Amino acid sequence: MCGIFGCVLKEGNAAPVIRSSLKRLEYRGYDSVGIATISDGKIYLKKDQGKIDDVHKILNLDDLPGNIGIGHTRWATHGAPLKVNSHPHADCTGEIMVVHNGIIENFMALRTELQNLDHTFVSKTDTEVIPHLIEETLKENPKLSFVDAVQESLKRLEGSYALAIISTKEPDKIICARNESPLVLGINGNGVFCASDIPAFLPVTNKAVMVNNGELVILTAQGYEIKKIRDSSPVSREPVTIEWTAEMAVKQGYPHFMIKEIHEQPETLRNTLRMQEHYLDLLTTFLDRANEVFLVACGTSYHACLAASYMFSKLAFLPTYPVYASEFIEQHGKSVNIDSTILAVSQSGETADTIAAVTCAQQRAATILSLTNVIGSTLTRISRVYIGQQSGPEIGVAATKTFTSQLSVLAQLALRLAKKRGKVSQDEIDSLEENLDKLPDIVDTVVKTQEEKVKQIAKKYKDSKVFFFLGRGISTATAYEGRLKLMEIAYIPSIAFPAGESKHGPISLVENGFPVVFICPKDDSHKTLIGNIMEMKARGASIIAVVEEGDEEIKTLADEYVEVPKGIPSVLSPIPFAVPLQLLAYYVALEKGYNPDMPRNLAKSVTVK
Ligand code: AGP
Repeated sequence: MCGIFGCVLKEGNAAPVIRSSLKRLEYRGYDSVGIATISDGKIYLKKDQGKIDDVHKILNLDDLPGNIGIGHTRWATHGAPLKVNSHPHADCTGEIMVVHNGIIENFMALRTELQNLDHTFVSKTDTEVIPHLIEETLKENPKLSFVDAVQESLKRLEGSYALAIISTKEPDKIICARNESPLVLGINGNGVFCASDIPAFLPVTNKAVMVNNGELVILTAQGYEIKKIRDSSPVSREPVTIEWTAEMAVKQGYPHFMIKEIHEQPETLRNTLRMQEHYLDLLTTFLDRANEVFLVACGTSYHACLAASYMFSKLAFLPTYPVYASEFIEQHGKSVNIDSTILAVSQSGETADTIAAVTCAQQRAATILSLTNVIGSTLTRISRVYIGQQSGPEIGVAATKTFTSQLSVLAQLALRLAKKRGKVSQDEIDSLEENLDKLPDIVDTVVKTQEEKVKQIAKKYKDSKVFFFLGRGISTATAYEGRLKLMEIAYIPSIAFPAGESKHGPISLVENGFPVVFICPKDDSHKTLIGNIMEMKARGASIIAVVEEGDEEIKTLADEYVEVPKGIPSVLSPIPFAVPLQLLAYYVALEKGYNPDMPRNLAKSVTVK
């Protein structure tokens, strides 16, 4: 997730307006920043890696001439957070500048095609293919206007984009376009603005025009013109008045980042399905050759590893060992060796325990692989191969969207490994891939249809002294994650363990009205789980069940239930089943008057051991 911005002013310089607007988009990414403007038919560019204020101190980003320009604040997905990968990106002539938020899925094929046509690339980004593609389209069709050349080029792109493009060929215009990544226009008496998000221009106007998928916009000092990329048909859309405060706008109208990020999961899951095939294949190759694989992480990322151990085992017949990073050195520090493979999972890529564990393994010649949300983080620098989960910055201390993104990437790895090892039939592969693609919509449905019910459950049980979270099989990982969420932001002591363990001790805790959350996908453990539910019911527990829609058997037994669309294979079930638990923790915290974004005693990234 990055932040893009552009403006065409009737009076005044664009650069200072762009910089201050990018500052208000910095929550979308802060690896690097760049601004390009046009003045007297020439392009001026300043960009570098680093946060906006730091780069501005060195380069003085305001000192660029011209009343028209574009800017970008980056969250690295393709290519490390270096100056060479920072936006705007140019074509060979330097006369076309592009800023982009999103993922161009077919960028490697386009890059090869353009390189064979003598285009020179300088970055590792997917974005850089766009200016070169426009340049080539113009070369092949010199009679095309610049706008038409952009429009034709957009038809070649696959994936998500919010773009702002300037060129000396039409120096008075910004051309924007949208496919899935957010793009909105602002308009006031002195000019027109385009941005990834409303906060960028809210201080200077609350008149906004939403841009929809498949639309191209031409901005000039006189206003905006929208048309469909597909067939150039004109689109008429009036501005709406935004009632948000600036602070609300950064949360897109949500009261907290945590609930915004829970609602973002359909989009972030779509982004994880646009993984870089090359890195998925590389990681799969290393895992296939591995003698022993440790999945090393902390907290929520550890729960993703726990779920992944079921995925690797059930799909690829690969045994993996989830290990708490803080325990790794004690437990395996002496035995880890050159034949060991570590797959470290860390959203921040900076968790001290995880870094220490990986460093210990690396010193003993183990192969280090990693999955992280922050390209350029310490973990990526000590990994032999890493892959970015592409969730965008997660501001809420409680991990939510990054958890489901991690699960999606790990499931893709397990599936690739299963295919490589010939362990699953083509039908099963097709079904799993089809269901992976459905997950963003499934999660969207869960959020849209079950949030209200979760709110009621939170209100009813907010004063409970303790919660149980139980599951069987891969749902044990989901149960652990639900427990962590409730503990860390609602401060309710919670207990989670495999449901089959209840009778080996924990069931002695159960008293009348004791809330027990059961995670109940319709998988092989469903029947046995019903027995576990009965055990708890018999002792007076209040059963809160997360079930597949239409699971009348468990709905009848439960005091409360939340439904997840049916048909999701068990190995993928933690993704949709975790969402009601995230919502439960959030709404219980609200009921208790806590700020879910800033839970006491916790930090977003635990960089101390
Ligand atoms: C999860 O909600 C917590 N914020 C915490 O457990 C977190 O998952 C853990 O500290 C690991 O962080 P990482 O993924 O950045 O390594």
